[in-house]
Amino acid sequence: MLNYLSAFTWLLFVSHVPALPTRFNKHTNERPVIGILTQIVTDEVMKPYGNTYIPAGYVKYIESGGSRVMAIRVDDHEKYYEDVFQKINGLLLIGGAADLETSDFARVAKIFFNLALKANDAGDYFPIWGTCMGMQQLSVLVAGENLLTNTPAENEARPLNLTAEAYQSRMFWDFPSALMEALTQEPLTANFHHYGLTLETFQENKYLNNFFTILSTNIADNGAVFVSTIEAKKYPFYGVQWHPEVNRFSWDRTKTFPHSYHAVQLSTLLAQFFVNEGRRSLHHFEDPREEDKVLIYNHTPLYTGNFTAYEQVYFF
Ligand SMILES: *[C@@H]1O[C@H](CO)[C@@H](O)[C@H](O)[C@H]1NC(C)=O
Ligand SMILES: *[C@@H]1O[C@H](CO)[C@@H](O)[C@H](O)[C@H]1NC(C)=O
Repeated sequence: MLNYLSAFTWLLFVSHVPALPTRFNKHTNERPVIGILTQIVTDEVMKPYGNTYIPAGYVKYIESGGSRVMAIRVDDHEKYYEDVFQKINGLLLIGGAADLETSDFARVAKIFFNLALKANDAGDYFPIWGTCMGMQQLSVLVAGENLLTNTPAENEARPLNLTAEAYQSRMFWDFPSALMEALTQEPLTANFHHYGLTLETFQENKYLNNFFTILSTNIADNGAVFVSTIEAKKYPFYGVQWHPEVNRFSWDRTKTFPHSYHAVQLSTLLAQFFVNEGRRSLHHFEDPREEDKVLIYNHTPLYTGNFTAYEQVYFF
């Protein structure tokens, strides 16, 4: 009776969580493809190799979660993205340096964001993850304006100041308690940013506040408290101001990339979490030949360890 009762309570509880873990979901897609928006090359040393790029660490990160990757160019028409949206199972918005309102990156992010809102509203599950600038982009899309201010934390690894909500979040749902403890004590999250959202800005903005739950905060070098981890309340959208991918895939000796046991575990579990969200999307390519042609495997990353902070970069 007790077991029966607690199972029932659990069901009641999970019915209020918009994004159940996949293990409770009947229909899953075990051949997911996650799209990654390319970044415009602005760095002079990278210009000889292409107009757009994706650091390979992001690709490895998604692949490590059990997904394939499609690089998505940012210079195409809306119709193209509408078509791509029906074929991929999630979107990763990566870090970089683009104008969050006027760039092609912002334009394409907005198209996907609006498609994802509509799809999720209609029961068509589609996750989006923003890392660093990607999270900032999500905040601009939700708030309808750029609310970033100076919150410098450049090349610094930190523990997270987790909120009470973090312990009921989807993002950390599967984390062992030892890792949750380590997250608050050990420098597991690498920061490379000048700008961010202060806690105050966030809480004073009704759009952000209604849309996202804050899972963690951190203190910037100038003393500002910034929001470092968020998840949407009613959508499978997630944002981190820090860089989970570097914990396993970046090794530049001048950078504070965390590589400890817990750092690697954190990166691994978040990649698995996001890809698992992608498994809930049943979008797919009708034609397997088209799928084969657009996957990242058609591209070869270039060794860039001698002129960038990335070991390898895909150029397009
Ligand atoms: C962590 O966050 C809480 C609540 O937001 C705040 O009261 C506390 O001072 C913060 N601690 C640190 C170390 O940032
Ligand atoms: C980096 O190394 C490659 C060889 O691996 C070389 O071809 C290239 O010129 C080097 N680039 C710079 C900027 O040193």
